[in-house]
Amino acid sequence: MRTTVGIIGAGPAGLLLARLLHRAGVESVVLEGRDRAYVEHRQRAGILEQGTVDVLRAAGAGRRMDREGLRHDGIELRFDRRRHRVDLPALTGGRSVTVYAQTEVCKDLIALQLEEGGPLLFEAEALAVEGAEGGRPRVPFRHQGREDELECDYVVGCDGFWGVSRAAFPAAVSRVFERTYPYAWLGVLADVAPSHDELVYARHDRGFALLSMRSPSVSRLYLQVPVGTEAGAWDDERIWDELERRLETDDDWRLERGPITQKSVTPMRSFVHEPMRHGRLFLAGDAAHIVPPTGAKGLNLAVGDVVTLARALVHERSTGSPDLLDAYSATCLRRVWQAERFSCDMTALLHPAPDAGDFEGRLQLARLERIATTPSAETDLAEAYTGFPLG
Ligand code: APR
Ligand code: PHB
Repeated sequence: MRTTVGIIGAGPAGLLLARLLHRAGVESVVLEGRDRAYVEHRQRAGILEQGTVDVLRAAGAGRRMDREGLRHDGIELRFDRRRHRVDLPALTGGRSVTVYAQTEVCKDLIALQLEEGGPLLFEAEALAVEGAEGGRPRVPFRHQGREDELECDYVVGCDGFWGVSRAAFPAAVSRVFERTYPYAWLGVLADVAPSHDELVYARHDRGFALLSMRSPSVSRLYLQVPVGTEAGAWDDERIWDELERRLETDDDWRLERGPITQKSVTPMRSFVHEPMRHGRLFLAGDAAHIVPPTGAKGLNLAVGDVVTLARALVHERSTGSPDLLDAYSATCLRRVWQAERFSCDMTALLHPAPDAGDFEGRLQLARLERIATTPSAETDLAEAYTGFPLG
């Protein structure tokens, strides 16, 4: 097989890149190792920044999002039984966020790619990236029991944290920056209407809790749990009891319960691979960087990467100038590191570490108090949460 841009991975990064290139008349082939059902149903992120919403609409992939997505103008910080609402548009000159699950974004982009775009091969596992330094990179892959090879002008590793594309960077070129956290998130889906109409981020001495949602009738909730926690070790009653304790307030707010339909444990990690380009190989999305989910940045960072890369590839093909491609890594990393900073700070703000003493707990409360009472501190959070400008 031969194409202009070979894309490894059909998560949000790979699918949106294929869509943006198609709209610009640049051909691509997407190789996805798993089947369609896996990609469309794995529970991941749920918050779209304003910039991501705008990109999806401009790419002709926003119709269902506009119908079913939930626009949110605020988030609630909950601490010491107090409630503080952060008014996002008021603090950011009008920016909000949209609750629309990553699974739905992927479904919409897959449908468009299959209808209008270039080849999207499921259960096509890329085995390596070869020849990235030269002029004709190649991606050997296995599909339907056969080994094949994709020849391209450019290869983009959108294959997530566990993919193969980073391995194509020579060790002398790669620099990895990472941090792991002494806790994880137990996430649940529940068939019950969300008990609040906006997201609630709660810092409690027992641990962090997050109330989110997928629709007016489906709640998405998270609990900070010790590293190594097995989802099956928590029964529904224990989960609801713990959520109730950590979300407690001084007023008569109540947490409604319902049947839990899915449980999973997500480890917390900060990770950046520099650079994000080697020759004709580019990294985008989780293949290049991971953020702890507290700041809801993962999907939105992937969008920023592929918008930057699509613009650079189209620019090179229309002008012959490689300047935007040459700037790709530095351009993305500026935004990546700001998202890493914010995600790390928001995680430290809201999660009592298992070995933290009372002093650290008081510092967290003092930081939350400052955000709740100081416009400049609150604005910094609102600006980061609603997203750093694309490009
Ligand atoms: N060959 C083909 N496909 C592969 C290979 C491979 N060798 N390795 C991984 N993949 C596929 C995975 O099956 C997955 O579908 O690459 C895709 C990577 O998708 P994501 O992990 O979703 O990464 P990305 O598209 O960058 O989106 C980032 O996803 O993990 C969340 O929180 C993260 O919301 C963020 C978003
Ligand atoms: C989600 O709804 O899955 C979600 C929302 C906000 C976050 C993380 C996850 O910060």
